[in-house]
Amino acid sequence: MSQSSSEIPVKIAGTGSYVPETIMTNADLEKLVDTNDEWIVSRTGIKERRIAAKDEFTSHLATKAAQNALKQAKLSGSDIELIIVATITPDTLTPATACYVQHNLGATGAVAFDISAACSGFLYALKLAKRMISDGAYKNALIIGAEKLSSFVNWEDRNTCVLFGDGAGAAILTKSEEGEGAILSTEMGTDGAQTSILNIPGGGTACPTTSANVGENLAALTMQGREVFKQAVTAMRNASETVIARAGLTTEDIACVIPHQANLRIIDAIVNRLDISREKVFVNLDKYGNTSAAAVAIALDEAHRSGAFKQGDHIVLVVFGAGLTWAATAIRW
Ligand code: COA
Repeated sequence: MSQSSSEIPVKIAGTGSYVPETIMTNADLEKLVDTNDEWIVSRTGIKERRIAAKDEFTSHLATKAAQNALKQAKLSGSDIELIIVATITPDTLTPATACYVQHNLGATGAVAFDISAACSGFLYALKLAKRMISDGAYKNALIIGAEKLSSFVNWEDRNTCVLFGDGAGAAILTKSEEGEGAILSTEMGTDGAQTSILNIPGGGTACPTTSANVGENLAALTMQGREVFKQAVTAMRNASETVIARAGLTTEDIACVIPHQANLRIIDAIVNRLDISREKVFVNLDKYGNTSAAAVAIALDEAHRSGAFKQGDHIVLVVFGAGLTWAATAIRW
């Protein structure tokens, strides 16, 4: 919903991101599965992705992204009262990855927890943190999208392993003062009737990993690519239009659209349907592939740091993922 007049307005005071050093190119994938650079680039736009080291966990990626966001916001861990990590690839099933991050940052006063909404998680976290600040309960919040998807990919399945990568992005949310930017409107949606078209079937209570099934690669992503593609285009287009209208804007007012970074053809289809100029749409999936909850967060940070939008500009973030889940938000920077 759009902001009611009694709510405290909330802005993004800093962004940060971090990707692991190791680059896996399409040529590297050609050595693992029956694929080639031409197929991957023409179907997805992805040229390379980052792969975390064995001893580099989701919380490590998240912590580094958070440190970069804190630096930009000129805050330290002790200033943070709320940490939400959006991830589907936690360090451990419990405790939450956010607890490790809290400790790493020395954010001893912060309440910290994870949310699981796949590629939509960062915008779900943004909505939640915004609400917790706007009702006066918290001052400075840290939201992070972080994933080590390389641990949950079947490296023998060419249908999926070429698509994903590791990384993290973060943002600091805080009260907006008179004349500053603000999060204007948000839309979120879920369709639980379609859990099966994009999921990790094993490792949970429905199919625990046992000594009998450990070799079956059940704790790996599976996907009906074409179906996901269609749904993603429709949901992201509708959510974008909704938040733009709710904020009292038109597409002409938008300086930059930052979509979920899954597939260039999905992004192009949305751009066509939204009737927005392609130059206004930020894309970095060629470098990182799909990093799920981290994707839009890394893209926001890179767009911000590269000057793709400036203070006072209106931007739209829009995402889609397993669940199915989707979300969009319109922000005056
Ligand atoms: N390299 C070479 N060939 C491949 C391949 C690969 N990495 N992956 C699949 N193929 C083959 C298939 O086996 C199939 O071969 P066949 O016709 O002999 O059976 C052929 O390519 C076409 O497969 P299809 O699935 O129809 O391709 P597509 O045009 O739908 O593209 C995706 C596949 C996955 C790129 C596309 O569906 C997609 O991007 N979907 C959305 C994925 C996504 O974004 N998921 C995350 C959302 S959060």
